[in-house]
Amino acid sequence: MKALILAGGTGSRMRPITHTAAKQLVPVANKPILFYAIEALVAAGITELGVVVGDTEREIRAAVGDGSRFGARVTYIAQDRPRGLAHAVLVSRDFLADDDFVMYLGDNILVSGITDVVARFRRERPAAGILLTKVADPRQFGVVELSPDGQVVRLTEKPEHPRSDLALVGVYLFSPAVHEAVRSVPVSARGELEITDAVQWLVDHGHTVRPTVVTGYWKDTGNVADTLEVNRTILETLAPEVLGSVDSSSELVGRVRVERGASVVRSRIVGPAVIGANTVVADSYIGPSTSVADDCRITGSELEFSIVLNRSVIDGVGRIEASLIGRDARVRRAGKVPRAHRLVLGDHSNVQIAS
Ligand code: TTP
Repeated sequence: MKALILAGGTGSRMRPITHTAAKQLVPVANKPILFYAIEALVAAGITELGVVVGDTEREIRAAVGDGSRFGARVTYIAQDRPRGLAHAVLVSRDFLADDDFVMYLGDNILVSGITDVVARFRRERPAAGILLTKVADPRQFGVVELSPDGQVVRLTEKPEHPRSDLALVGVYLFSPAVHEAVRSVPVSARGELEITDAVQWLVDHGHTVRPTVVTGYWKDTGNVADTLEVNRTILETLAPEVLGSVDSSSELVGRVRVERGASVVRSRIVGPAVIGANTVVADSYIGPSTSVADDCRITGSELEFSIVLNRSVIDGVGRIEASLIGRDARVRRAGKVPRAHRLVLGDHSNVQIAS
């Protein structure tokens, strides 16, 4: 069995981060979201991976390489534009050949892993397997309607009036029957080849599509709020350890990880939290559900429920909450007079100022 990991796309909901970086490489608990997908596939015994890439191909290649450090072998497949999830299958035909495969959306995280669903698919070999989970507001998801005896009846992409609360999780299992389906479906109203239409095609043509309702934690990290939530959840599984230095006037409370070369001075860190390698935290408070990446400087500030990426500086700014701060960013206190905010913001930045 092979896997197809989708790591192209536009990432419009994650701007401005995605102007300069692939959304699948935004770290949660200081590890790129994409790596959790690769690790889940390898854990399920799948090591031959195709990674579909778009504009951010170079960056994804630099991060994942040939896959050997995950115990996998990676083939990169270029998609000229994000023309839809079914289009990603279409352009991967040569790589997939006539093997069964798992399609894993590279910005999704499924904490319970996929080992059991892969084992069941291998045993039963339906034409396709889909994973579903109950959600509060199904309107932003692919929604699946089941018959009273649990058969898949209908799949609808982001319906205005959902007929069920079961959303499609971003992990699909396919037999080669899907290739005829992706060749047969028309481009949708939003201009994409939809995987929901391809699965519906399989249902309509009498193929077995096996639904599995998963109860473990699943999230699509398509936007900032969801990414912060995933970060919170993953941090709760982190092994606490102090590899850097923590001075005697500092206090670490709960699940805190301080990476090699990091230094914590006159500060209080309340976990779950991770402080990246060579990062300095001084005269600061780092609150729960916060990940600070490598080579950052947090001084005279408070930070909670946030993610800070590599090499950023936060100095003397009071409290920051529920924020995603990109790489090489500088957030500093302004001079006293005039009392003004001074901003140099990238396109599509989003700032809320408290005073
Ligand atoms: P989406 O989140 O549906 O699409 P997107 O990345 O274009 O995001 P946005 O809505 O914020 O603009 O994609 C799910 C995953 O699949 C994500 O990892 C990107 C990837 N993808 C592709 O590789 N090719 C595609 O054609 C599409 C649509 C998505």
